[in-house]
Amino acid sequence: MAFDKNFLWGGATAANQYEGGYLDGGKGLSTSDVLTAGAHDKRRRVTWKNPTTGETGSTSFDFLKSQRVVPEGTVPAVLNDEYYPSHVATDFYHHYKEDIGLMAEMGFKAFRLSINWARIFPNGDDAEPNEEGLAFYDHVFDECQKHGIEPLVTLSHYETPLALAINYNGWASRRLIDFFVKYATTVMTRYKGKVKYWLTFNEINVMEMAPFMGGGVIASSPQIKAQAAHNQFVASAKVVKAAHEIDPTMQVGQMLAYGPLYAYTADPADQLLVMEQMQASMFYADVQTGGHYPQYRLKKYEREGIKLDDTPEDYKLLEKYSADFLSFSCYGSNVVTTHEDGDKTSGNFMMGIKNPYLKTNAWGWAIDPDVLRLALNTLYDRYHKPLWIVENGIGWDDQISADGKIHDSYRIEYLQQNLNSMRDAVTIDGVDLMGYTMWGCIDLVSAGTGEMKKRYGFVYVDRDDNGNGTLDRTPKDSFYWYKKVIASNGEDL
Ligand code: BG6
Repeated sequence: MAFDKNFLWGGATAANQYEGGYLDGGKGLSTSDVLTAGAHDKRRRVTWKNPTTGETGSTSFDFLKSQRVVPEGTVPAVLNDEYYPSHVATDFYHHYKEDIGLMAEMGFKAFRLSINWARIFPNGDDAEPNEEGLAFYDHVFDECQKHGIEPLVTLSHYETPLALAINYNGWASRRLIDFFVKYATTVMTRYKGKVKYWLTFNEINVMEMAPFMGGGVIASSPQIKAQAAHNQFVASAKVVKAAHEIDPTMQVGQMLAYGPLYAYTADPADQLLVMEQMQASMFYADVQTGGHYPQYRLKKYEREGIKLDDTPEDYKLLEKYSADFLSFSCYGSNVVTTHEDGDKTSGNFMMGIKNPYLKTNAWGWAIDPDVLRLALNTLYDRYHKPLWIVENGIGWDDQISADGKIHDSYRIEYLQQNLNSMRDAVTIDGVDLMGYTMWGCIDLVSAGTGEMKKRYGFVYVDRDDNGNGTLDRTPKDSFYWYKKVIASNGEDL
């Protein structure tokens, strides 16, 4: 048997893309609530208003370039005449019983979801938590418990309370460390006995490319991003400490966006580029899982004149309370080059070159049959800590056939290849893997484009890019395939 009998098969979601109910039960606004929908060739926009003049507008959300996400003197705001996909999303808020029932039918052992921080502390810095928000997740976790599903909870998945972004420039401020630790201890204490596995920041390295999404940072610079990352590292360490004090069986993981990078040519300059780009990601795991700032990053800060607002205590915390396990998202590999040739392609937060050996989906994401084995080996060799694949999957514009069903053979094929590669990492290479949660197990909104039509799920949700649809749920062919995979503990792919 390739996988341990306790292997955590399941699916993953995030509140901002799935939950909806954006003002229900006393929830405050979060950063995702001011993002409009976009498309593969059209960026999402951040909407804003000028509190003094009342002027309103929107700014194209360029992940790579933005120094300020909204103009000086304005604040991100919800406007009446705009459509925001997060506001209803696919309405887990009102469908959680049905959805968890569907997950149970597939045989899920684990369900990754995020708590919407602004549902618990509507402004992020409130004195008291919002009881209605806490009660909502009680119901969700009770439902999971009823079906024997282990929740894996992300504390922050692109859901910084908007008030913290406006009043503190998000994670640029050290004040957020205490706000976050208070929020985390509140929910960890409340859900003790119901939730064992926690993740602090979704794809913490997204700070590098999209600090507004990753940390509610409105005005950014290399100095600010470095500080915001540092503040999140310290907060993570404090949360690991608090979790172990609240319940020694709790485990807190890091969550890293990871995709192997290939050089387009054998030119050594391309290998150096791969090394530098990998450092930009691995730095985040070197600190949070490894417990230390790596020399290459300290040297970079020195060269760039970046100085952190830090304390000696910070570094003790980082070392003593590094993550218990390393979880990561991995969809495919990327290719980079120093040369001009090669077709450009894109992921949700970065650009690359199209790999001539691989097919892609309609959004240019490479389908790489060896990606998980490569990723798992690299990460296990570097940190020797248990790993958990918490996101993997493929976005596709699924169509309903004449028979009323969704025949997503392309998704099954993608997952077969990926799970084979994952199994090889365990059986051939001996990687210690805790679980696998497929991304977007029930259709939800795309983070990168805000579209509905970029669907990942085993379950189709009737909702389109303009917010029309019944929100009815229909299992796709992959639903029955995954059920069989879980029932055979990964033997029958
Ligand atoms: C990861 C994020 O980057 O990729 C998810 O953690 C996101 O939130 C997922 O949805 C897939 O990306 P996209 O842009 O296709 O939704």
